[in-house]
Amino acid sequence: MSFRGIDNKNEFRGEQQMSNSNNAEGVHELITARKSIRAFSDKAIDDKSFISIFEAARWASSSRNEQPWRFIAARKEEQENFQRTLDCINESNRIWAQHGAMLIVVLAKKNFTTHAIPNNHAQHDVGLAIGNLALQATSLGIFLHQMGGIDYQKVRTIFEVPEEYEVISIIVGGYPGSDEMLPEKLRERESLPRQRRELKELVFEGKFGNKNTVFSGGLE
Ligand SMILES: Cc1cc2nc3c(=O)[nH]c(=O)nc-3n(C[C@H](O)[C@H](O)[C@H](O)COP(=O)(O)O)c2cc1C
Repeated sequence: MSFRGIDNKNEFRGEQQMSNSNNAEGVHELITARKSIRAFSDKAIDDKSFISIFEAARWASSSRNEQPWRFIAARKEEQENFQRTLDCINESNRIWAQHGAMLIVVLAKKNFTTHAIPNNHAQHDVGLAIGNLALQATSLGIFLHQMGGIDYQKVRTIFEVPEEYEVISIIVGGYPGSDEMLPEKLRERESLPRQRRELKELVFEGKFGNKNTVFSGGLE
């Protein structure tokens, strides 16, 4: 299985507090290989893969096992539904997302089903499901790109989303294509090194902001 994983170009882009170190030593290849690509091939996603991606999402953990995630999915072959989903995506994303093989509207159920009180972890848990979904897709050579640049109200209206569900995002997915198919500006963006905050900025010790000696000692 071939992955398009983290590239190790260490050119600095100038963002404050961002690491130009792409060291991901010891991290599972599936995690480092996942990437939000923009160039998709026209290869279709078969039923088996499509099902397994959502099966992976289904097995995420969630507060009180509420499983607040819901999806409205369309593969390209389902032309009408694919187009309806595409219509909800902002132009800047649609320009490349239109070439994906599937689109997934992501929803979160806001309240617990049995207790009728707000589920403060609904978005958190949907994120866990998406994490699973993304890794399962990656294991199949399928790449996803989540988009917050969408028309939330349009999603609600077009797909008749009930009030008790929050519209979270739309995800585009497909097999990777050539960056050559992208407009020049986006092509350049695709080749930039990926940026991550350094661990010492993320993991504290004792109290908030206190550097953890393990991570400030230069593991990165
Ligand atoms: C909730 C969410 C919304 C996002 N919205 C957009 C978007 O509208 N357009 C876009 O190009 N990328 C979007 N992204 C992709 C992020 O920019 C991307 O995940 C980030 O740069 C890290 O890159 P990576 O996923 O390849 O590691 C979004 C990601 C998430 C998780």
